[in-house]
Amino acid sequence: MNREDFALLKDNVIYFDNGATALKPNVLKEALSDYYDHYSCNAHRGDYDLSLKVDAMYEGAREKVQNFINAKRREEIIFTSGATDSLNKIIFGYFKWNLKKDDEVLITVAEHASNVLPWFELQDEIGIQVAYIPLENHQVTLENVKKSITEKTKVISLAHITNVIGDVRPLKEICQYAHERGILVVADGAQSVAHEKVDVQDLDVDFFAFSAHKLYGPTGVGVLYGKMEHLTQIRPIIFGGGMNTSFSKDGVRVYHDLPSMLEAGTPNIAGVIAFGSVLDYMTSIGFDEIKKHERELKQYAVQRLQEIDTITIYNKEAESAIIAFNMDGVFAQDLAIYLNNYRICVRAGNHCAKILKEEIGVKNTVRISFGLYNTKEEIDCLLEALKNPNLKAEMI
Ligand code: ALA
Repeated sequence: MNREDFALLKDNVIYFDNGATALKPNVLKEALSDYYDHYSCNAHRGDYDLSLKVDAMYEGAREKVQNFINAKRREEIIFTSGATDSLNKIIFGYFKWNLKKDDEVLITVAEHASNVLPWFELQDEIGIQVAYIPLENHQVTLENVKKSITEKTKVISLAHITNVIGDVRPLKEICQYAHERGILVVADGAQSVAHEKVDVQDLDVDFFAFSAHKLYGPTGVGVLYGKMEHLTQIRPIIFGGGMNTSFSKDGVRVYHDLPSMLEAGTPNIAGVIAFGSVLDYMTSIGFDEIKKHERELKQYAVQRLQEIDTITIYNKEAESAIIAFNMDGVFAQDLAIYLNNYRICVRAGNHCAKILKEEIGVKNTVRISFGLYNTKEEIDCLLEALKNPNLKAEMI
């Protein structure tokens, strides 16, 4: 769908790497050009018309994000540089001060590095314990979450959709169960916001992090959502201009209220404003359509890949539009390089989920991740390339 809106698709490329980043619709570059050509001034610092326009556009984008994920208040939306930055701000700005030695954080071996390494750092720093929810068929179940919770559990931190297995976690049910026990839930939404409607109030999630670039927006922009009751206790981890109201020689300083307190320095103004335009574009398409289309693609691709008996798919049952597979006797990266000869873009490797190998038994996979513009015809081209009797010879 909407292929004509994506200039890069005119280059005859088959882009199956949407989990890494999505291609950009024309509205993105139009909004960027508009900013750079017509009002490229700083935000929150000027008293002249052009700068006031920047303020209105930047804060307008915040409201668009608020509406997009149905946050209750605009102050609950903090712009960051990406999901990684958001998760670090949540973990070091909030949990560092609200957890103590031996408190337990539950994650899984399927998490992305950004939702593992900051917790390991906090483990070293303040002595929290990182524990793992066992997976069923590589997926999180509410039952296993329940079984993993102990008296020490204070936080459950999970991807909403994982980036290799692509399972959709029962986040709403997990939040409900966790909250009844005073446990907070952090969700890494990097792989979900572009593929299904996210409603943070309906999920009742405490913190939600995502990047703009996987949502067809610009690189270098991310969002940290937190419930106001938690954000009022968060501390900044980056300090500087734009986040303080005053400071004096003796070290006394006063910081701004939210959201500015967490947005030190000149932000990615062009990116944030252009992201707002992309959100309008995404809303105009609607997630009912996108989800239906992408899940049909996933089913079709799984069905077609199964025609090749040397292919092992690791996540047939996972709902979302991600497929992780290997071909017998072929190193994942060699297969990705081979597919590149046919202008087919896939990702190969461990995909930053470096402890998932303990679950699926292999270190590297080839990953196909669909976006709204992919088609069944593109999947047929992939199959043609994979069925090539000279495949191995062409790799040399
Ligand atoms: N985290 C991104 C991915 O899964 C880059 O590919």
